[in-house]
Amino acid sequence: MRRKIVAGNWKLNNDINQGLALVKELASQVAEKNPTAEVVVAPSFVNLAGVVSELKNSKIEVAAQNMNENASGAFTGEVSGDMLTAIGVEKVILGHSERRAIYGESDELLAKKTDAALANNLEVIFCIGELLEERKSGSHFEVVAGQIEKGLFHLEASAFDNIVLAYEPVWAIGTGETASPEQAQEMHAHIRKVVDAKYGASVATKLPILYGGSVKPGNAKEIFSKEDVDGGLIGGAALKSEDFMGIVTAFD
Ligand code: PGA
Repeated sequence: MRRKIVAGNWKLNNDINQGLALVKELASQVAEKNPTAEVVVAPSFVNLAGVVSELKNSKIEVAAQNMNENASGAFTGEVSGDMLTAIGVEKVILGHSERRAIYGESDELLAKKTDAALANNLEVIFCIGELLEERKSGSHFEVVAGQIEKGLFHLEASAFDNIVLAYEPVWAIGTGETASPEQAQEMHAHIRKVVDAKYGASVATKLPILYGGSVKPGNAKEIFSKEDVDGGLIGGAALKSEDFMGIVTAFD
């Protein structure tokens, strides 16, 4: 069976007090419920060390929301992969549509960030997804395949042991609009086919592919029931322990 993962992307939310209060509740719930899914939280940079330390004895893992592609140097305001591993962070989200759209992160840059993350033994949660216009014009399959090819296809097959994909249709992020379970399954199957064509079934069948975009406790079970959907990347609903746990336990 493929790994099941539910990751909470806090974005620009939760100061250290709010973040610690949230992960304390999550840690006790996860210990009690022992969910099938691996549980990940992604706080902002300044709160990573505090959250890692609070979760020391918990099964919940911690991801950064971004990182720089360089190891060190004159890059004011940036954070490197080894700074993340030095404080016990084990994962990083790369290529979120907000990074791509608001901060202009290109496929080429994301390929470099992926290399830097993997060189630091960080697991990469690599985000892909089409815009509404692209879905309307029918180019969504091509767009998503292109993002995977340009961002990841320079890698050796073995690198995929440390990669998780997150399909997030941009039109479903924070909008309350969700892809239907069928739309999610259709795209996830396509993604797996694209990876299979390049790396073969051994890589494609074990690659976890998460869905993101307005996942809530009320729709998680149906979306996660689809064959190629291996969990979720959750924004808004990751900010309240009850909602997030409702999604985390959707596989149980
Ligand atoms: P949302 O965000 O759940 O608030 O739609 C998902 C994401 O951006 O990862």
